[in-house]
Amino acid sequence: MPTVSMTVNGENVSSEVEPRTLLVQYLRENLGLTGTHVGCDTSQCGACVVHVNGKSAKSCTMLAVQAEGSEVSTIEGLADGDTLHPMQEAFRENHGLQCGFCTPGMVMSAIDLVQTNSNPSEQDVREWLEGNLCRCTGYHNIVKSILAGAKTMQG
Ligand code: FES
Ligand code: FES
Repeated sequence: MPTVSMTVNGENVSSEVEPRTLLVQYLRENLGLTGTHVGCDTSQCGACVVHVNGKSAKSCTMLAVQAEGSEVSTIEGLADGDTLHPMQEAFRENHGLQCGFCTPGMVMSAIDLVQTNSNPSEQDVREWLEGNLCRCTGYHNIVKSILAGAKTMQG
């Protein structure tokens, strides 16, 4: 089996994996980082979004070996101890979640949006979320949360 090495949430990790192992499986099953979810098998839901070298990526669409040498960030890496990342805090304050299943992917996608466009409009947010599905909220409070999180991140 090939060995794959990468940085996950700032820590170096290295493991033997089967070549067919998806990045999301590697994160969840090998590293126990179960905050990254699997909500579909068609690459549509976005529950599995993480950052790979600073950009959002659906971790169900990548093999773990394709992340060799990359810097990967997951939802578990965002908070600083008990202090939530501003985007997490914005979701909490604005009721941007109900069951929470889609939330890790939403938050990771939202942070990438704000890193790309520090002052997104509501339309920008809605278009960006094309790849993230939520079956509970109707999106209104998710959009509100992301706009609020963007403001805080601008600082
Ligand atoms: S699990 Fe649904 S897009 Fe990755
Ligand atoms: S909060 Fe339940 S799927 Fe989005």
